[in-house]
Amino acid sequence: MVEPDLNLKLIENERKYFEFIRVLRNDESLKVGFINQEEITSEQHELYMHKHHAAYFICLLDDEPVGYVGVIENDIRIAVSTEYHNLGIGKFMVSEILKRFPASTAKVKVTNIASQKLFEGMGFTKEFITYRSPFTPEGFP
Ligand SMILES: CC(C)(COP(=O)(O)OP(=O)(O)OC[C@H]1O[C@@H](n2cnc3c(N)ncnc32)[C@H](O)[C@@H]1OP(=O)(O)O)[C@@H](O)C(=O)NCCC(=O)NCCS
Repeated sequence: MVEPDLNLKLIENERKYFEFIRVLRNDESLKVGFINQEEITSEQHELYMHKHHAAYFICLLDDEPVGYVGVIENDIRIAVSTEYHNLGIGKFMVSEILKRFPASTAKVKVTNIASQKLFEGMGFTKEFITYRSPFTPEGFP
């Protein structure tokens, strides 16, 4: 649940937050939750933000950035700085983003329990399962 005394705001993304997003995206402890875990370089991020900056929003706690949420083609991407986990910030961002993009969905790894709890706790239901083949470039195991 959202801590009642937290001063949270969701604001539009601006250039001054681009690096904050990249740092969260590359954070070793958060990365395990992301589907794509490759390190994002400044150059890649600059290009990505050039294209998608308006799809991202920043969560401020007392005017300090503590998380981001983005929606691209109705797909939600979200992260909260580790030291602010479990305070309801993820939930706050998702509820705000649903006001703007009510048809949004999320792709979540089966190992990402925090994220599953977040979305299921907000009433999202499971719709698809992706099966990955055991084939590798070296052949069948
Ligand atoms: C997923 C993530 C955004 C959740 O943010 P958060 O601010 O900690 O989430 P909240 O505090 O709003 O918690 C929402 C619910 O999830 C639960 N939860 C959060 N982290 C949890 C964890 N590690 N294990 C179990 N439940 C957890 C909370 O208890 C809460 O449940 P409640 O409503 O029943 O109280 C955050 O863990 C994160 O940034 N993870 C790394 C990036 C990531 O995986 N992004 C998602 C890709 S789809």
